[in-house]
Amino acid sequence: MGQNMINLKTKTPFLSLIFLLNIALVTSRHGFTSRFHVYIIDNLPPNSKLTMHCQSHDDDLGYKVLYPNDEFNFSFNMKLFGGTLFFCHFWWNDQSITFDIFNNSIAGNCGVIDGDHLECYWKVQEDGFYFGARRNPPPDYEKQHDWNQYYFTIRENIKFSFCSFIFLLNFGLSSCKSPFSSIYTVYIIDALPSNSKPLTVRCQSKDDDLGYKNLYPGGEYHFSFKENFLGGTLFFCHFWWNGKNIIFDVFNNKIDIYCGEVELLSNDRNHECFWKVQEDGFYFAPHRNPPSLYEKKHDWPTTLA
Ligand SMILES: *[C@@H]1O[C@H](CO)[C@@H](O)[C@H](O)[C@H]1NC(C)=O
Ligand SMILES: *[C@@H]1O[C@H](CO)[C@@H](O)[C@H](O)[C@H]1NC(C)=O
Repeated sequence: MGQNMINLKTKTPFLSLIFLLNIALVTSRHGFTSRFHVYIIDNLPPNSKLTMHCQSHDDDLGYKVLYPNDEFNFSFNMKLFGGTLFFCHFWWNDQSITFDIFNNSIAGNCGVIDGDHLECYWKVQEDGFYFGARRNPPPDYEKQHDWNQYYFTIRENIKFSFCSFIFLLNFGLSSCKSPFSSIYTVYIIDALPSNSKPLTVRCQSKDDDLGYKNLYPGGEYHFSFKENFLGGTLFFCHFWWNGKNIIFDVFNNKIDIYCGEVELLSNDRNHECFWKVQEDGFYFAPHRNPPSLYEKKHDWPTTLA
């Protein structure tokens, strides 16, 4: 472990304070404003495609596609005790992750180059994400994050770290509202045996009644809505088929985090959730395919004789 290396994974506010002091030391050596250069280096295996999207509170650096050995860099000035935070979302194969690419604790670990410039390196590898203070000679790059399976979203963590960031800036005065909202689309797929009776569905939220829909085997129905940063939307549906009926939530705060993320190329943070209705019950998946994603969540109630 390099002399500079501090465990970036620490989360306690007290330690963040130490990191802030750390930056204060660095910046006082080099003036009151430092310029940070952040490099993201794609060290993934040949023929792979990395998609990334980095953002700060004020800046959206947009979606970038990197191929092996490509790199992406950005730089910015940070004042003494600056609270600059950049987080990036990465997608590769069927994996994805979001984490802080730059925050106060990282700032304290970046390498000092001439004058007021500091540099920070992230290497993206098959086995995860490595941080280093210098490009050359190879510093001790240290692993900070593993890839996550695409389907387990970690948006809860982003919510958390984004809120703590706002909290840090405003010293708790903020209500932690963010400009971000997502569009969610809930799909209901009729996968009942062919030639079976129509499935009747009626979905409602606190404010909306989407009305009665009849679906036939192979058919589907979907609806979309905007969910703000803090969530809170709930939709429940009533299903009738073959003399049975059931009501359950198709979307709420708990289901929310299992919905899949879609469309990497626009600035909307969009999500999808799938419910498949079968003879033996109701199955949920974060994406339409593959079928192995579907997990049974509800049975049809047994009919009373
Ligand atoms: C800062 O970023 C690092 C690396 O992504 C992360 O491990 C750490 O939890 C972050 N610190 C805070 C306070 O969020
Ligand atoms: C940073 O990226 C730009 C392209 O976006 C490139 O022109 C520049 O050379 C890069 N800087 C360094 C120091 O690699």
